[in-house]
Amino acid sequence: MNAIHYDLGSDQILTLTIDMPGQSANTMNSAFREALSETTARVKGDLDKIRGVIIASAKKTFFAGGDLKELHKVTHDDAQAFEDMVNGLKADMRFLETAGKPVVAAVNGTALGGGLEIALACHHRIVLDDDSIQLGLPEVTLGLLPGGGGTQRLPRMIGLEAAFPFLMEGKKVNPKAALKAGIVDELADSVEDMMTRARTFIDANPKCQQPWDQKGFKFPGGAPHHPAMAQKLAIAPAMLKQKTRGCYPAPERILSAAVEGAQVDFDNGSLIETRYFAELVIGQVAKNMTGTFWFQLNAIKAGGSRPEGVEKETFRKVGVLGAGMMGAGIAYSTATRGIDVVLKDVSLENAEKGKAYSEKLLTKKVSRGRMTEEQKATVLDRITPTDSADDLDGCDLVIEAVFEDSELKAKVTGEAEPKLVANGIFGSNTSTIPITQLAEASAKPENFIGLHFFSPVDKMQLVEIIVGEKTSDDTLARAFDYVQQIGKIPVVVNDSRGFFTSRVFGTFVNEGICMLGEGIHPASIENAGLLSGMPVGPLAISDEVSMTLMQHIRNQSRKDTEAAGGTWNPHPAEAIIDAMVNEHGRKGKAAGAGFYEYPANGKKYLWPELETLFVNPETARSVPLQELKDRILFIQAIETVRCLEEGVLRTVEDANIGSIFGIGYAPWTGGAIQFINQYGVRAFAQRAAELAERYGERFAPPRLLLEKAESNSDFS
Ligand code: NAI
Repeated sequence: MNAIHYDLGSDQILTLTIDMPGQSANTMNSAFREALSETTARVKGDLDKIRGVIIASAKKTFFAGGDLKELHKVTHDDAQAFEDMVNGLKADMRFLETAGKPVVAAVNGTALGGGLEIALACHHRIVLDDDSIQLGLPEVTLGLLPGGGGTQRLPRMIGLEAAFPFLMEGKKVNPKAALKAGIVDELADSVEDMMTRARTFIDANPKCQQPWDQKGFKFPGGAPHHPAMAQKLAIAPAMLKQKTRGCYPAPERILSAAVEGAQVDFDNGSLIETRYFAELVIGQVAKNMTGTFWFQLNAIKAGGSRPEGVEKETFRKVGVLGAGMMGAGIAYSTATRGIDVVLKDVSLENAEKGKAYSEKLLTKKVSRGRMTEEQKATVLDRITPTDSADDLDGCDLVIEAVFEDSELKAKVTGEAEPKLVANGIFGSNTSTIPITQLAEASAKPENFIGLHFFSPVDKMQLVEIIVGEKTSDDTLARAFDYVQQIGKIPVVVNDSRGFFTSRVFGTFVNEGICMLGEGIHPASIENAGLLSGMPVGPLAISDEVSMTLMQHIRNQSRKDTEAAGGTWNPHPAEAIIDAMVNEHGRKGKAAGAGFYEYPANGKKYLWPELETLFVNPETARSVPLQELKDRILFIQAIETVRCLEEGVLRTVEDANIGSIFGIGYAPWTGGAIQFINQYGVRAFAQRAAELAERYGERFAPPRLLLEKAESNSDFS
């Protein structure tokens, strides 16, 4: 069966319907390329009989984009062959574009990456007016560029400046926003309406040529050499560098492809684009981001660490205890996915405040055209605020998000459990208290599990599922189903202090603070954090978390370690945190003063006194930036290995995805364990040993790392 149905009607309109056999979505793989090439040859033969062409899709998604598996395999040695293949595909698309006949894209579903590029190569784009449809070029988010003509056509269509957010940030829009941006030409109410409109366009435009193929074409918004545009473009690379911090090559290559391509004719621009595309495809960052990151993410979504043999559960009613920052967010994320929520707090007023949070987020969605008033009302109707535990009757799952206090958590567990359906699950959103300990208050510890959300819940995709000593596989499987049902990413970890994410995150923050104690300039520390690819510097994030909270967690850990007969080894960062809080009264951002100053009417800046208090010019001068960057990435990767070694983490996939989505571990690496694989396990172990000698045992290569280094095998 051909992947493109060829239907030349009696009205001489050719409908090409893309329908890749055996695939749930159309993708730009070798089967598609072959089909396109055959189709092009057939069109060439039939050209005299054709008045116009409609490109449609038989799938729910119009076209999903490139085949990442294929791209992932391309190596340095294949670069030329890859370029030839891409240029061949583009030549086929170009033939239809330049054959003189009107070509209309009838976009019935989401068109991302290659899908949108096919539509851009048409003379006219009609999209179904459905808010769930997305249009965009997300290649940059995987370290790639839109190599099917996207960097050439989009700027020629809407101007360089307007195209940049789509090309360099991977901005996605719904059909209405796409129409406003000038990416599509018409919206249709139904598929039939879309086809009628396509025919009308063909009837009205018997001859068609893209604007950029016409004589005297003027670049919308100004060509690169126009003085105003030239001025903007001159500073663009510097601005990009500030964002990518030298870690991500794709945005810079996209900028180059678009700007250089804009200075030549379309066909030469297209060749320039292919060259940059190939460079990115064979590069390590794209390999990390497409390979490890993307495939591992999909592996987790497909089932990951979910125990097999447990029937999938669909949740209908979920109770949330505590309508504070986390509870309100959990209620929102649950209700937006069609589940009824009972939101309970100590007073109805508090519970209603929690519901109002959902209203605020939904109103924003409506105002951005991403939701209708009716849809908003439906979601809000699902949330029942209450101060009575009786309303929890019949919940399939109750999640507690009350204050971080073991006794209070025990009390609410006791109140809520009897209201659950038989075999219902109780989840705790604790950020620090071991699940096994909290489960002691449960009448059914086998049905007790940790569901650790991240703040802000509506934006953060990860949920750490924490398995206590007595948690059953059945409960784990069903908790996994709930997390998937609300569209979040589940990673499974076994109970441990700080679980996985908080534990690794703590090493990052402490390392930065420790550098300050050694005498490094605070600005260099923050810079090293950003340049290593972390989203925020370690001092800034300490302020966000609050140093008093860090003291509280550490004191509790020390108490528990000593109570268990262990010895507490203080981290060198502890003395700095104590000095900041106890001597200087600087607790963090919420208190208005921490490592940073927070002026009422201005941007935060590093507290100047840090220089006098901590900086040692001699040390500051002698430590290279690379060493600081290494320390930041290494300390987290080493702690992640320890989590694997101790069985806190079950799989490398969970480690990589959890580190990126939970901690913000530099996405260019593909995750904390992929960073080690890519660095070379042996070389990593050696460098870790060097750092241990210089900075202390916390860098000492764990046994599992040494074993891997010895056998010269990657983590997999
Ligand atoms: P919060 O202080 O904003 O909200 C706690 C809510 O619990 C308050 O509205 C309070 O009235 C309510 N509450 C107290 N006793 C209650 C009871 N008996 N029944 C029902 N509600 C009761 O706290 P937040 O930040 O939402 O944290 C909640 C939990 O989530 C804590 O265990 C925290 O450690 C954990 N967590 C917090 C994160 C954060 O970034 N804030 C991240 C992940 C977990």
